[in-house]
Amino acid sequence: MGVADRQSFLVTRWEDVETVLRDGETFSSSINAEHIGQFMGELMLAMDGKEHRAYRNLVAHAFRASQLEHWDDELVRPTINRLLDDIAPLGRADLVAAITSQYPVQVICGIVGVPVEDSAQFQRWAEEINTGPLNPPQGMAASQAMRDYLAPLVEARRASPTGDFLSDLVRAEIEGEVLTDGKLYGFLRLLLPAGAETTFRALGNALTAMLTVPGLMDRVYADRELLAPLIEETLRWETSVTQVSRVATRDTELAGCPIPKGAVMNVLTGSANHDEARYPHSEEFDVDRPPQNHLTFGTGQHQCLGMHLARMEMRVGLGAILDRLPNLRLDPEMPPPVIEGLAFRGPNALNVRFDPS
Ligand code: HEM
Repeated sequence: MGVADRQSFLVTRWEDVETVLRDGETFSSSINAEHIGQFMGELMLAMDGKEHRAYRNLVAHAFRASQLEHWDDELVRPTINRLLDDIAPLGRADLVAAITSQYPVQVICGIVGVPVEDSAQFQRWAEEINTGPLNPPQGMAASQAMRDYLAPLVEARRASPTGDFLSDLVRAEIEGEVLTDGKLYGFLRLLLPAGAETTFRALGNALTAMLTVPGLMDRVYADRELLAPLIEETLRWETSVTQVSRVATRDTELAGCPIPKGAVMNVLTGSANHDEARYPHSEEFDVDRPPQNHLTFGTGQHQCLGMHLARMEMRVGLGAILDRLPNLRLDPEMPPPVIEGLAFRGPNALNVRFDPS
């Protein structure tokens, strides 16, 4: 039976979203394998229980805190500054085309060891893999091409590790378990869509808030400490990934509603982040909201592996934009930004003016 033939439910309230995501036994992630899994390879997003835990432990090691610090200085800052160099003298730009659509992709490529000049090709393959269910021959060809491209990089790190992310990944071993090639390439194929598409949109949403909420831009220029709450409120207010999927493994009940085995659960994290019972005036962007965690990165055993990296990229990226583009404001001659999309949300354009430097 295909997904479309099965009974499906929308889970919208905070408490119920949290319950589903924390109970991986009743609500399995295996549904994520049905479409994209055939093109991406062995997909951690689609694994459950012990298999998922063992795999996640192996790859999580490569995201350790010391890597994060080293990426901050050596990769993330140079990447955003290189992109800003091109527009800073111009005094006007579309920040989506010039900055946000390129910056997280280039960071992920840098993490994996793909040179910046190949990042556009790498991104094309990632897109063809993502749209594989619509065009299977193209999806399969891209999946193989990405593996062929990465194989020499993987072999080089196996032969002589350099201490980077890929070296950690190819040599990861816990209690005698290592990553098989299927799992290694499956993970590498997931990284670009998981890490680039999401952070790209979250940055666009943060900039939209800064440019449109009255007084906010002046406050952040004056006080960079405000960036941390601004990022958290952005993630809550316009959740860039609005939903995740699960499938019921047995007959069960949620908030008094009977759920049959096999039912598709559309778990709306974006809606949970707007639950009025938890967030008063939830539709409003309010940077002074008392801190409370949100469900933007999910929760439970699949909680986003890249959330610390995503937050760091946002903090460094927005800080650099404020440093390099003084007097940033909407371009009065262009249409204002609109945050759009259902499963993924972000603005398609951010036309701005600033003082050239
Ligand atoms: C604002 C940016 C991001 C958002 C909103 C986001 C959102 C999410 C969500 C909601 C999940 C849980 C999926 C589920 O429960 O089925 C997830 C998982 C994941 N994310 Fe992110 N993500 C972001 C950035 C990143 C980055 C930068 C990376 C890596 C470079 C990354 C890598 C992953 C991986 C590998 C998983 C799978 C974890 C697992 O299955 O155990 N994400 N992300």
